[in-house]
Amino acid sequence: MEANGAQVRRIGVLTGGGDCPGLNAVIRAVVKDALYHGMEVYGIADGFLGLIERRTRKLDEHDVANIITAGGTILGSSNKANPARFATGTNPDGSPTFRDVTDDCVAYAKDLGLDAIVCIGGDGTMSAAASFCAKGVNCIGVPKTIDNDLEGTDITFGFMTAVETATEAIDRVRTTAASHHRAMVVEVMGRNAGWIALHSGLASGADIILLPELDFGVEEVCAAINRRRARGKRFSIICVAEGAKPAGGEQVVKQIDPTSPDPIRLGGIAAWLSDRIQQDTGIESRHVVLGHLQRGGTPVAMDRVLATQFGHHAMHLLKTGAQNRMVAMQSFRLTDVPIEHVAGKQRTISAEEPLLTTARSVGVRFCVPAPQPVES
Ligand code: F6P
Repeated sequence: MEANGAQVRRIGVLTGGGDCPGLNAVIRAVVKDALYHGMEVYGIADGFLGLIERRTRKLDEHDVANIITAGGTILGSSNKANPARFATGTNPDGSPTFRDVTDDCVAYAKDLGLDAIVCIGGDGTMSAAASFCAKGVNCIGVPKTIDNDLEGTDITFGFMTAVETATEAIDRVRTTAASHHRAMVVEVMGRNAGWIALHSGLASGADIILLPELDFGVEEVCAAINRRRARGKRFSIICVAEGAKPAGGEQVVKQIDPTSPDPIRLGGIAAWLSDRIQQDTGIESRHVVLGHLQRGGTPVAMDRVLATQFGHHAMHLLKTGAQNRMVAMQSFRLTDVPIEHVAGKQRTISAEEPLLTTARSVGVRFCVPAPQPVES
């Protein structure tokens, strides 16, 4: 396969970071397209860890048969293996020691004869890919994450399935909330971005949506629930993003993993808020944390389609000699952007996001406290 004078004969493919529905659909699209064009494909196990530990295998058509519907990734993934800062052991005080193993990985990729690597992942994977690009290994990025928080693309695959799962869960919570006249607080994932909360909250008719981008007031949340009661609405659904926090407060951190490039694991805001609601309003309140349910299972049809489009575009880029680009969807058009422009950035909800206005128009409360007048 000629690409700007250079032949692309053999490529690697890896899936990095937290998994999400649709990874297998991308792998399938890449492998089928590559084999059709006479290329060889090496599957790299467990993201960049497979390059560090030299674990790869040649993929053929049988490896990608029957996987378009499968959640997870046939290659495995890791959200800890950043070659530029790879945890190799521990210091006497228990803190991890790190080493930059990028050169070893680049040498392995060259030993394997890889002309390029298709890196399917989120911001951490794109950062790692960018350091490979800087060392002369052509990387083509494919944007995945349920969080939908990647810079440069309007949408990532996996997001629509996560929204569907969260919506269905909130729909189920609604019936029990109604039976028991309770406030129900449902916590969804998304790290520092509220895309899953905004979309699933809107789709499920949540009364209150709390986002990392808009600090909320506990008083405002309780007042909104009390106002609903006064209007005869005896239950309330609150959809809270794991990264949301009360104004003047902090995000609730569940765990810190110092060996991970993104060490903070969020979680616990729903339990905290549910207790406060019950305490401050006297209304019975319960919470549910959806957690990794949102990452698992069969991708919805539109994620399968998007993943296939992304895989196809990645191969198109390789065949036309593109270097170091990430596939993207912008205004419903497939396109691509330089990987280094995306690396390490997060796309959160801006104050101008039209969906915020839409949500407000159907009565959703974000419970942002009014600015306090400045004392003279
Ligand atoms: O980035 C995807 C995501 O599921 C986030 O929504 C969540 O905060 C995080 O990963 C959880 O990571 P882990 O699988 O390491 O617990």
